[in-house]
Amino acid sequence: MENGGRRARIVSISSGKGGVGKSNVAVNLAVRLSAMGRKVILLDADLGTANADVLCNLTPKATLAHVVAGRCGLRDVLMDAPGGFKLVPGASGLANMAALSEFERARLVQQMQELEAQSDLLLVDTGAGVSPNVLCFAAAADQQLVITSPEPTAVTDAYALIKTLVRQQPQADVRILVNMVRDAVEGRAVFDRISAVSQRFLALRPKFAGHVPHDARVVMAVRRRRPFVLDSPHCEASQCIGQLAHRMDRHAAEPRGEGLIRRVAVWLAG
Ligand SMILES: Nc1ncnc2c1ncn2[C@@H]1O[C@H](COP(=O)(O)OP(=O)(O)OP(=O)(O)O)[C@@H](O)[C@H]1O
Ligand SMILES: [Mg+2]
Repeated sequence: MENGGRRARIVSISSGKGGVGKSNVAVNLAVRLSAMGRKVILLDADLGTANADVLCNLTPKATLAHVVAGRCGLRDVLMDAPGGFKLVPGASGLANMAALSEFERARLVQQMQELEAQSDLLLVDTGAGVSPNVLCFAAAADQQLVITSPEPTAVTDAYALIKTLVRQQPQADVRILVNMVRDAVEGRAVFDRISAVSQRFLALRPKFAGHVPHDARVVMAVRRRRPFVLDSPHCEASQCIGQLAHRMDRHAAEPRGEGLIRRVAVWLAG
């Protein structure tokens, strides 16, 4: 799946608080973007509680842990996932993965270049919080998608994450997706709150990536271990993911800034 030398756009998917829907958004976006004809790779880089493989009902033989340990390359652990995207399964339950050494992080970023060359879009589920691992993956990305729910604790933690991201990378392209909302109005209101504080205290104008409603179909699909856009393609949540995929696809056609290694080098130096 070489893409003729074009470089993929890398989008990190993060959150301040855990459990707000990162992995579901990542997997379902990957499915939708693949359906639109894009070569998509999802890197499950949540090094504590990776579970994109579970959402896709896959049983990986090798994971990111093997790659980090230097036992194989990323190419060797790529799996065919439902809907046609490729998954790099994450490593769950390995305490030593939770905090990579600088050497391991640098090696992983090197390997990400290989994935980038093979795809049109590289999505990275970073896990929650503001650990150095998360910040490293966000620094490697062209675009940082921050997910929150409307819960006040999730909103506060999302702002804390954005603050840390922007401190590391003043040029960060931060986009906010509000998941598990009652309706579009609530999603917009949550975004407006975070945006107002970001503008006031960080001089940052984050972009609105949209909302995904709280939808019982999502919960059902998770239980069935099927991406909800395949399990219930017409439910409200699937429609919202479809809209996000279309917007991302448009952006993917835009020219890119500096390269991956340069961005991360700046981050490592800073
Ligand atoms: N739009 C939604 N509607 C209903 N339930 C949802 C929605 N999004 C997520 N959920 C519920 O929240 C749970 C957690 O979602 P998910 O695993 O995607 O979150 P996460 O941010 O990746 O969590 P973690 O921080 O543990 O990695 C899901 O199993 C599902 O039950
Ligand atoms: Mg997750």
